[in-house]
Amino acid sequence: MPETFRVPRSRANKTHQMLRDEIMAALEPILFDDYRNSYAIRAELEAAFAAEMRKRHAVAAHSGTIALLLALRACGIGPGDQVITVGNSDISTTGAISQCGAIPVLCDVARSDYTIDVDLVEDLITGKTRAILPVDLHGHPANVRALRPLADRHDLKIVEDAALASGACDHGAPVGAFADVAMFSFAPFKPLGSAGNGAMLVTSDDSLADQLRLLVSYGHAPTLSPSPKMREGLDTPSLFMGEGAGGWGSLPPGYQNYIAEGYNVPLDGLQAALLLVKLPYLGEWTRQRRDIVSRLEAGLADTSAILPRFRAESRPTFRSYAIAVDRQGELHQGLRAAGIEAVIHYAPPIYEYDVYAGMFPERGSLTTTERLARQIVNLPVTPELTSDDVDYMIEVTRKLLNNG
Ligand SMILES: Cc1ncc(COP(=O)(O)O)c(C=O)c1O
Repeated sequence: MPETFRVPRSRANKTHQMLRDEIMAALEPILFDDYRNSYAIRAELEAAFAAEMRKRHAVAAHSGTIALLLALRACGIGPGDQVITVGNSDISTTGAISQCGAIPVLCDVARSDYTIDVDLVEDLITGKTRAILPVDLHGHPANVRALRPLADRHDLKIVEDAALASGACDHGAPVGAFADVAMFSFAPFKPLGSAGNGAMLVTSDDSLADQLRLLVSYGHAPTLSPSPKMREGLDTPSLFMGEGAGGWGSLPPGYQNYIAEGYNVPLDGLQAALLLVKLPYLGEWTRQRRDIVSRLEAGLADTSAILPRFRAESRPTFRSYAIAVDRQGELHQGLRAAGIEAVIHYAPPIYEYDVYAGMFPERGSLTTTERLARQIVNLPVTPELTSDDVDYMIEVTRKLLNNG
């Protein structure tokens, strides 16, 4: 049995209960009707998500981890290239870069909102730099607009890791607006969570979108093109039905062709159906997350905790509320002992894990990243929290910080 907390990290089950009828109605045709429904639902989610994020294209993938790899590959990142990113993220971020054969180059982060320090990026650019991969950590928008002119000047792509930031906006637009490709994760504890794994890549670049669709689905040609069999005059239709860019069934049977080595990592239809039910509520849930944080902010303002601060244009969402304190372990354990499911996310910095032993020369020099990793404690933020839950969190946190 999972540990139960008075204030848990997520009460998505309550939301799912509230939406039970809608969810069951959405799952029904996928399970019991024609199997092609699953593909149609995914295409519907892609269209709805692209509209929500004000982008021309959205491509749904199995997880944020694989989606980042697809995004970098679509941008042409390969062996020997360098990609600038941060050290306070998930292994998915650095892993995607290494798995392309490229080298992650780590930039320090801003003390205010824990995202990439844009003033430090230019000094890290070399002749091998091909992309910048900022992370909207905890749901805080990185200042990607400030990175855009720099990227354009040096002919770099921007792939934004917005895994935690569905619902966040910056400079008046949904996060991802200034990136070439942005990735949103739908893992269960994310601001828009599925019941398993899932992610979405968004872009307004038509050729990047074509590349993403190619890579997410084996490397199938998206349109009719002469396959090797056809060139030999053997155009006997195979049994393959084909899922082209227009969705399942958009290729005529028998004209399958691979034009890239891709993966088979689309979002599955059951998760797509659940997400399609939940997407229209994202705005309301984001407001609820912000309201919870406004109350936490007011309740903890006069304590020794250092609270995140945001640029005037930044409209974060909050997967959790990441505060910085001197006695991290003590607060973390005290909160959990009081039934509050606090966690410590993205600490230590990624290069301290065994897999990267000796690999990052940046180790020891990213002073803000390292300081934050010793200080951050994440308080639960989930739209279903009650007023009492928030009051209780404030009361316990104040007491543990000796401000009670
Ligand atoms: C910042 C960040 N990027 C990428 C990922 C990977 O997303 P997923 O869990 O969907 O693979 C995560 C997962 O927690 C994350 O926190």
